[in-house]
Amino acid sequence: MKILVSGATGLVGSVLLEQAIAQGHEIHYLTTRKNQLDTISGAKGFYWNPKKNEIDFKCFEGVEVLIHLAGASISQRWTTKNKKEILDSRVDGTNLLVNTLKQLHGNHQLEQVVAASAIGIYPSSFSTVYTEDYTPQSNSFLEEVVIAWEKAEDGFARLGIKLCKLRIGLVLTAKGGVLGPLKIPNWFGLGAAFGNGQQTQSWIHVDDLVTLSLQASTEQWEGIFNAVSPQPVSQKEFTRTLAKAMRRPYFMPSLPQLPIRLVMGEMSTLVFNSQNVSAAKVLQKGFKYQYPDLFPAIKSLL
Ligand SMILES: NC(=O)c1ccc[n+]([C@@H]2O[C@H](COP(=O)([O-])OP(=O)(O)OC[C@H]3O[C@@H](n4cnc5c(N)ncnc54)[C@H](OP(=O)(O)O)[C@@H]3O)[C@@H](O)[C@H]2O)c1
Repeated sequence: MKILVSGATGLVGSVLLEQAIAQGHEIHYLTTRKNQLDTISGAKGFYWNPKKNEIDFKCFEGVEVLIHLAGASISQRWTTKNKKEILDSRVDGTNLLVNTLKQLHGNHQLEQVVAASAIGIYPSSFSTVYTEDYTPQSNSFLEEVVIAWEKAEDGFARLGIKLCKLRIGLVLTAKGGVLGPLKIPNWFGLGAAFGNGQQTQSWIHVDDLVTLSLQASTEQWEGIFNAVSPQPVSQKEFTRTLAKAMRRPYFMPSLPQLPIRLVMGEMSTLVFNSQNVSAAKVLQKGFKYQYPDLFPAIKSLL
């Protein structure tokens, strides 16, 4: 297959490209950084700049599948400026791709889009198990972003292209991501949960996310799918499992909410929110997780 990937230089995108190239797929990728155009061997880079509405139309040449991952990181302080970038990069980037396809007037081979979304669309709850048929409401910044992002992605479906939206959970990767900062206190035996530690973390190993994205592409999945492991855990369990995988002690009391909220500001919702997200729909599709359980997932990444 010939696949165009946006966000290819990111945590998920870089693993996706490795696997897709190894499987023999032909890869085009989009980057906003000109110095990243020729850096991925076996793939062809194209420049785009959603802020300036610029894109190299040739990126779509012969492409059958678009895997759309681009978006500014949410792990930056949520100042007014950064919040605008987090939202705009997703909505403007998606609109630019949709409008480019419109301007090609059907003169393309694109049949399928697999688009990133996030479980941040679900509000924090200690009792609900979220399935894809939940009706989103815009009560927080993250909910607002993901609702607008998914709405923009619906533009692909309006062009008659099959659209699969993946509501991605906390992605576990070897480099960076959530494990990066959490590993540091654990090296010193100082790993601790946030708040009361009862908040549910719906996570996914990056390899499973990549396999899922490629399977959704080849099998032409349509609709919304939660991209999470079938075994979510509490924050406390997550921290305890990380310590165990690192062979470090776990004895610290949980970190109190107030000082963390003061330091992290609104972004602290990322560590205090509880989202128990169901993987049932993906399992019904016959997806086989390589890492359904947390301990082997973390172990494989250390
Ligand atoms: N990692 C997670 O835990 C997680 C959880 C839920 C959802 N997701 C979503 O999954 C997608 C991939 O995640 P990731 O962790 O791989 O993200 P990432 O490491 O932050 O990479 C995202 C990529 O998006 C591109 N990008 C950054 N700012 C941009 C902008 N203003 N306009 C257009 N492109 C921009 C960058 O590529 P260039 O610099 O090459 O342009 C970057 O490599 C993201 O949309 C993310 O929101 C991730």
